[in-house]
Amino acid sequence: MEPIIRVDRASKSYRNAKSSEKVLQDLSFEIGQGEIVAILGPSGCGKSTLLNLIGGFERADEGRVLFEGRPVERPTRQCVMIFQNYGLLPWRTVRKNVEIGLEPSGYTAAERKERASAYVDLVGLSDRIDHFPHQLSGGMQQRVALARALAIDPKAVLMDEPFGALDTFNRYHLQNELLRLQNGQGLTVVIVTHDIDEAVFLADRILVMESAPGRIRKEIRIPDAKPRDRGSTQFQHYRKLIFDLFHLSGTDDDPEFTI
Ligand SMILES: Nc1ncnc2c1ncn2[C@@H]1O[C@H](COP(=O)(O)OP(=O)(O)O)[C@@H](O)[C@H]1O
Ligand SMILES: [Mg+2]
Repeated sequence: MEPIIRVDRASKSYRNAKSSEKVLQDLSFEIGQGEIVAILGPSGCGKSTLLNLIGGFERADEGRVLFEGRPVERPTRQCVMIFQNYGLLPWRTVRKNVEIGLEPSGYTAAERKERASAYVDLVGLSDRIDHFPHQLSGGMQQRVALARALAIDPKAVLMDEPFGALDTFNRYHLQNELLRLQNGQGLTVVIVTHDIDEAVFLADRILVMESAPGRIRKEIRIPDAKPRDRGSTQFQHYRKLIFDLFHLSGTDDDPEFTI
């Protein structure tokens, strides 16, 4: 089967007047339809830059990024990004925030309203539909961002550390919700994270990155059924695999790959 996303020998540098910094070097990988892929790595290794390339917000200097076989040149409705800060408009209610994505797409006002209600319901926020973002917790704001992304019926969702600002309980809860929604819609999800547990819980495949310049260091395939038991031996096995990779197990003091 043709992959939905293909990154092919992509490199990216940022230049200023004085210097040039190679942020990503020669990355190649494919993502299949309906897969959840986690991009895991330390802060500054180029995860957000990579996601921006896939989402069409940045262009690679060398190599290419393809979505359904076509070069990615700009953001599209097929592949939507959920940004780190949720990107909600503070002057709009939950409903109106979810409607944003539907406004340029030929829906009537009544259809927009109905569709927004359905997706707000899907993320469990019906009773907050007329609230403003500042009246919501961080977890609820993240749900609104998710509802807005799903309402436009994309094929893929790109998430940049979506649960990083949440407390542990909310984070676990939303990770479960994400699995439920993803599974229900056959959605492809690319999630950037520096949270090892999050990657092991959610991903079919983890791409482990290293820094300076950002590269894929290792690919870890996790075939185990979901939802996964965070306390299981299998779960710990994958955690340890990654801990060892970054020399975080306390058994090795090689400083090269600390997260
Ligand atoms: N727009 C930009 N201009 C210049 N440098 C940037 C820009 N965006 C990111 N960088 C640099 O690229 C590197 C990788 O950044 P980023 O992709 O945000 O990493 P991560 O998301 O893994 O923390 C960092 O060194 C950062 O300073
Ligand atoms: Mg980032």
